[in-house]
Amino acid sequence: MDITPLHKRHSEPLISIQALNACRILVINGKGGSGKTTLSTNLAAWLAKRGESTSLLDADPQGSSSHWIKQRPLELPFIYGFKIESSSRTTLSFQLRAPKSTRWLVTDAPPGLSGLALDDLVRDHDLILVPVMPSEIDIRASARFIGELLLTQNMRRKRRPIAVVANRIRQQASAWVRLQKFLQSLQIPYPANLRDTQNYVRAYTEGRGIIDYPQQAYARDREDWESLMNWIDAQNREHQWLKDEAAHELTPSEISREGTAQG
Ligand SMILES: Nc1ncnc2c1ncn2[C@@H]1O[C@H](COP(=O)(O)OP(=O)(O)O)[C@@H](O)[C@H]1O
Ligand SMILES: [Mg+2]
Repeated sequence: MDITPLHKRHSEPLISIQALNACRILVINGKGGSGKTTLSTNLAAWLAKRGESTSLLDADPQGSSSHWIKQRPLELPFIYGFKIESSSRTTLSFQLRAPKSTRWLVTDAPPGLSGLALDDLVRDHDLILVPVMPSEIDIRASARFIGELLLTQNMRRKRRPIAVVANRIRQQASAWVRLQKFLQSLQIPYPANLRDTQNYVRAYTEGRGIIDYPQQAYARDREDWESLMNWIDAQNREHQWLKDEAAHELTPSEISREGTAQG
């Protein structure tokens, strides 16, 4: 497996994502096209805009998040991007390194993960977001996927907060009602719905998130994001993933000896 940083000039020590003093968010669904990249990129943009050091790991060989980062205008808040070059059955997560200052790691997962590979990704994250499109086919597949997620060893060992984000909510309202019932039965929250709008399509093309546009233009969508961020921030406060610097001393082996990323 090859880990590629996406930036030419980056000179900060990198450490294993396992050792980060950060909230590590996994954006995942078994299905492609559910909105993983849309959610990951917008989330990273939102966090960066708040002035918090953010890294975006593209774990999908399709490379959609990496493409987005490359389009991102330089004047926008910096997001450190890196990707897993080739797919492998298990992720060698100790090889995955992000800047030590990272406070939020967002991982855009590949579709179709199961078994060990899924369990490995779960292990290295604190919080899980599952974007779901409310169509009949997607809901069935997502329900099965969430079931599998809950049964991974790492989820059973330590239950991470998990939420569903309903994406492109315009159509198929009845399917969405059924999904809500299913989520309620599993006590899985769904703190935000994202509208079906070309705003997301445009933002992706331009390397931006909804948050990077003037407020008036995207007010409706910002509201959706505020609900999601409120939920994430509440989880973060409750679980205290971000430690005071003094309380977070790294052991020497946790600090990358290979020095800095020179892409
Ligand atoms: N809320 C949305 N409104 C409009 N288009 C969307 C929305 N979410 C995703 N899309 C579009 O749907 C397609 C699939 O979304 P994407 O985020 O790439 O899914 P995934 O990463 O799960 O494959 C993309 O073309 C994307 O622009
Ligand atoms: Mg994608």
